[in-house]
Amino acid sequence: MMATSTYKVVVLGGGNAAGYVAKSLVEASPDTSLCIVGREEVLPYERPALSKAFLFADPPARLPGFHTSVGGGGVRQDAAWYADAGVDVKLSTEVTGVDVTTKTLTTAAGDTVVAEDALIIATGAAPIALTKTPGWGLDGVYTLRENAEGLRLYDALQAAKGEPVVVVGGGYIGMEVAAAAATVGCQVKMIYPDKHMMPRLFTPEIASHYEKYYTDKGIELLYDGRLCEEILGDDEGKVRGVVMCKDGEKTEVAAKVVVVGVGARANTQLFDGAVEMEAGGIKVNGSLESSAAGVYAIGDVATFPLAMTGGMTRMEHVQNARETAAHAVASILGKSSGDYDYLPYFYSRVFDLGWKFYGRNEGTSVTVGNLKDGLASVWVDDGKAVGVFMEGGSDADTAAMVALARNCPAVDVGALKAATSAAELLAA
Ligand code: FDA
Ligand code: NAD
Repeated sequence: MMATSTYKVVVLGGGNAAGYVAKSLVEASPDTSLCIVGREEVLPYERPALSKAFLFADPPARLPGFHTSVGGGGVRQDAAWYADAGVDVKLSTEVTGVDVTTKTLTTAAGDTVVAEDALIIATGAAPIALTKTPGWGLDGVYTLRENAEGLRLYDALQAAKGEPVVVVGGGYIGMEVAAAAATVGCQVKMIYPDKHMMPRLFTPEIASHYEKYYTDKGIELLYDGRLCEEILGDDEGKVRGVVMCKDGEKTEVAAKVVVVGVGARANTQLFDGAVEMEAGGIKVNGSLESSAAGVYAIGDVATFPLAMTGGMTRMEHVQNARETAAHAVASILGKSSGDYDYLPYFYSRVFDLGWKFYGRNEGTSVTVGNLKDGLASVWVDDGKAVGVFMEGGSDADTAAMVALARNCPAVDVGALKAATSAAELLAA
């Protein structure tokens, strides 16, 4: 028998942002009925954990340890929390259809969930699959986005201690998973086509410090035009290696496990033709409302106006998931004090290192220091400091970074270049 249920607010997607919607709505308006519909089998959690202590710690981080909102400094929202708050969370429930006019979701089982006041789209993003690469479907090829994938990858890395593991991609997943696999004791090679690691954010100068660190940890870096052209299997359909290609020259690289992190795409498919799209995501205004009235989009799937530049942007980062969730709830409740005003913030942790970035990585950059004593960079655009990167750093440094990225002070590049340490660079 198909069921229909109705709530004031419904969230499509039960990931990182959804957990923060529950936090904000329960805090601000506990009597507003809320339902979260998600296909994962677990309650909303802090997804960044999956590529960090989840993979290498002993014992590994596991749910319920990192349910939202622990990463944002809130209480841990476990099953008892949702029950106490009266929030209905439908787990393991795939939404297959959406009517944005009536704000109605249809699930794979044929049930319907209706949002009376607001539907919030929080479907996140999915790893790009190398479906055209021969061998993609072999046993031993992994992507990493959801808890279940993390559990499978953990087992695979444990079983590959001392054995070769190939990580395809030199971005966030590539760097974090390669570090985790090396920590577990695998023989890791990274393959990526870019001139250096993390080309989305790092300058060649920043990257060179991490590349040396990775090499010193025994990770082999195969980059600069190198592509994984084929994944090779044995007679049982299990991965045995990859074919790497550069300038037409092919090399076989052995691997027991292949982890692919070559970017993500926003999960917008259910909304094609139903709402306006931009830059690969659902276009929203400063209230995070889409072109359909009462339908909001938050987190990785939303393309929103970045108040500090006026441009439209999509951010695949957890702080944006947290803040868009809070802002959408404020907009829905009529309690918002203005348009969404986000300060871009990215971070990562690998081995015993941890970096942060605030602002925009545009213009020229000045870098000083090293990974041991503190490494920092400041980006200067049109005579103003617009972005700042720091490895390590104290809470006071973080406060200084935020102030710099927010206020964009006029700076003298000569003075920045004269700095001899990360602390001096921030002070300059
Ligand atoms: P999120 O992906 O969290 O949630 C979307 C949910 O919607 C998923 O549970 C999905 O199953 C569900 N869904 C999608 N379609 C559905 C459908 N049709 N029906 C039902 N459910 C559906 N960021 C950062 O700033 N620092 C970091 O260190 C990291 N680390 C990190 C590690 C790893 C492994 C990943 C994959 C990502 C990160 N990130 C990160 C990025 C960060 O996790 C990301 O920005 C947030 O999870 C985005 O939150 P959302 O809720 O938008 O998507
Ligand atoms: P990414 O965009 O950070 O990096 C993709 C990398 O793959 C780039 O180096 C790119 O050049 C390379 N690449 C592209 N095509 C390739 C190919 N055919 N062969 C080899 N390399 C190729 O994306 P990601 O690392 O896959 O991360 C996926 C998502 O997870 C993103 O949303 C990211 O923000 C998120 N994430 C974030 C963090 C963090 O913020 N610390 C950590 C993990 C994951």
